[in-house]
Amino acid sequence: MLDVSQRHFDIEGSVEVTAGTGGMPSVVLTHPAGARAIITLHGAHVTSWIPSDGEERLFLSRCSRFARGRAIRGGIPVVFPQFGPGALPQHGFARTRKWELLATQRHGNGDAGAVLGLKPSPSTRAMWPHRFRLYLVAVLHERALTLALRVTNTGDTEFEFTAALHTYFAITDIRQAAVLGLQGVTYIDSLRNDVREVETREAIRFEGETDRVYVQAPDRVLLVDEASQRTTTVEKSGMADVVVWNPWEAKAQRMPDFGDDEWQRMVCVETGCMAEPVRIAPGEAWMGRTVLRA
Ligand code: BG6
Repeated sequence: MLDVSQRHFDIEGSVEVTAGTGGMPSVVLTHPAGARAIITLHGAHVTSWIPSDGEERLFLSRCSRFARGRAIRGGIPVVFPQFGPGALPQHGFARTRKWELLATQRHGNGDAGAVLGLKPSPSTRAMWPHRFRLYLVAVLHERALTLALRVTNTGDTEFEFTAALHTYFAITDIRQAAVLGLQGVTYIDSLRNDVREVETREAIRFEGETDRVYVQAPDRVLLVDEASQRTTTVEKSGMADVVVWNPWEAKAQRMPDFGDDEWQRMVCVETGCMAEPVRIAPGEAWMGRTVLRA
């Protein structure tokens, strides 16, 4: 439900809070040069990013659910406090909670921003007993989107977490796409019992299901969509790792919220701290940032 108070965050021409898909309030950021991004308060989930050239860069499944307690399939899910499977639900709880809109901003150059926050609730405490604040700061630029994730330990005991921005990029054809910048980096192959190997390829191409954590990856990776001659740069800081994921045909069919053919038009290039948990003491904070550039 769109709360009237959320309207106070509107900034004419830059920020609008709308009812959103499935009645899930969303923040729409717009830039005078024509760029636009949509962030749903459910999960602080970026569901669309269109830079000033007018072309959508994020994949969003036509089968995605927009429902309470469910993760949206596509866009940029925020993964916290657990990446992947484990004691908590897969990829943690941040992506299935309703976040709070804390602030919006318009900068002099036309950039538009929003700050979203998540704090513990009885249901998160039942799964994960720690006291924390999680913030997502999003800034839309003419041809880029900056996302900063910040975790603060507001409790009196140390805790650890893994986290990611699980970006789903829209591409024309997975067979004509490549990820550059990971040559020489050690990866953990989730499809082969987490075996660790070194990436030998300059250009990572796709011929089947791919699910790898590139450990301590360089801070700049390129995604090349050859069919449409488009390159997107993924820059990160304070985030150690990069995950490259495509489910390919069989897994796509097993995923209920994903179209059987959609694996051909997406690839995830995720940034975060996935391989090694981050540990923070009471009163301490961690921050990681990712910039997507068209
Ligand atoms: C990736 C994982 O980050 O997310 C994959 O590496 C996983 O193993 C994928 O399948 C999607 O996860 P989910 O929980 O959104 O289906």
